[in-house]
Amino acid sequence: MDRPLKLGLAGLGTVGASVARILAGRREHFTDMIGRAITVRAVSARDRSRDRGVDLSNVEWFDDPVRLAAEADIDLFVELIGGAEGVALASVTAALERGLPVVTANKALLAHHGVALARLAERHGTTILFEAAVAGGIPIIKTMRESLRGNAVSRVFGILNGTCNYMLTRMEHEGVDFDTVLREAQALGYAEADPTFDIGGFDAAHKLAILTSLAFGCEIDLDSIFIEGIESISLEDIRTASDLGYRIKLLAVAQRTETGIEQRVHPTMIPADSALARVDGVTNAVAVDTDLLGSVLLAGPGAGGAATASAVLSDILDVAAGKTVPTLGIACEKLQPYRRARMRAHEGGYYIRLQVADEVGAFAAIARRMADNMISLESIVQRRKDHEDGPVAPVILITHETTEAAVREALEAVRRDGHLREEPRMIRIETLA
Ligand code: HSE
Repeated sequence: MDRPLKLGLAGLGTVGASVARILAGRREHFTDMIGRAITVRAVSARDRSRDRGVDLSNVEWFDDPVRLAAEADIDLFVELIGGAEGVALASVTAALERGLPVVTANKALLAHHGVALARLAERHGTTILFEAAVAGGIPIIKTMRESLRGNAVSRVFGILNGTCNYMLTRMEHEGVDFDTVLREAQALGYAEADPTFDIGGFDAAHKLAILTSLAFGCEIDLDSIFIEGIESISLEDIRTASDLGYRIKLLAVAQRTETGIEQRVHPTMIPADSALARVDGVTNAVAVDTDLLGSVLLAGPGAGGAATASAVLSDILDVAAGKTVPTLGIACEKLQPYRRARMRAHEGGYYIRLQVADEVGAFAAIARRMADNMISLESIVQRRKDHEDGPVAPVILITHETTEAAVREALEAVRRDGHLREEPRMIRIETLA
């Protein structure tokens, strides 16, 4: 039998403690499976005294995770600290500089520094594994980096933030308003410490940046992502979408276009009868459109101790079995520079909601502005309502495929015409295979 794999574990929060417990509890099974034992040799965590449900008395403790990474007698460094900078970045850098493989769940670290760290790993003959960094327990990294290697990917998209999906699901099913459901998500521990990271779309963007690189063999480019959160989605939008046969999801989409790669995170209307529309609550889902396989959809838990530990363990077992894959799927020198497609060139259908003063010519003016911008309408519905500022007519437009630039210009012209009582609302519609 080969000698044991000695592991250094930095971060013993929910996921780290879960990994340590499972490694202890399934020790014999894992040893039988890969022909060598896996031993936790060193750990680093803030609180030594906390009971984590696993015996760590024979394990070397480090107050400083960077020292652990640089000096401990280990074969593999597992980073479960989190954060794009600080000790997470310093400890991963230190481990790679020693030529140690790194397993991490840190999406922010990879979204900001993934290419630099991949290059560092390659220079030192090692690699970074990060199954847990995107969509928690769903095995999407391995699927994209290994199983779909022979395919050309045209689009990768999905529901990558459980908090937003939980909130939108509750709003739709129970009619609960945005602020109440956000408080619920925080109480249940779904939301990040700063909930704007979730509801503003930034958490999903970090995950998308990583998927884009794997899908298209390009450098990670977080800053080029168009991001719009769910803050402005109202119960009325959700109800209207439902009446029209759609559901609203926060989608993260990366797509190859004629002008480059489009990366976007925004509330999206998708057909209510699609498989993705039925992904409810905190569940995540990722779809990949490819030339050979067509469309594949993976769904499952996107967060939580045991689910995320499942992904971390799969990486640890791969390292123990001696399996290596380049960090971003291909040699760093073969990574293409990221070529950004501008959001104004985005093509798709749009849902537009306008609160219009109920006066002669308003409806006609809207229709004219759409035609001026070559926007063809699939439907236009007007309902009269009494409003504190006088009668208004909510007007709902669904466009055929058009461009973002045309929609923005048309809405600007409608606004200038002076018939609107509120800012126009617009939600993009995604075509699913
Ligand atoms: N806050 C994240 C979510 C957790 O809601 O999906 C995992 O990144």
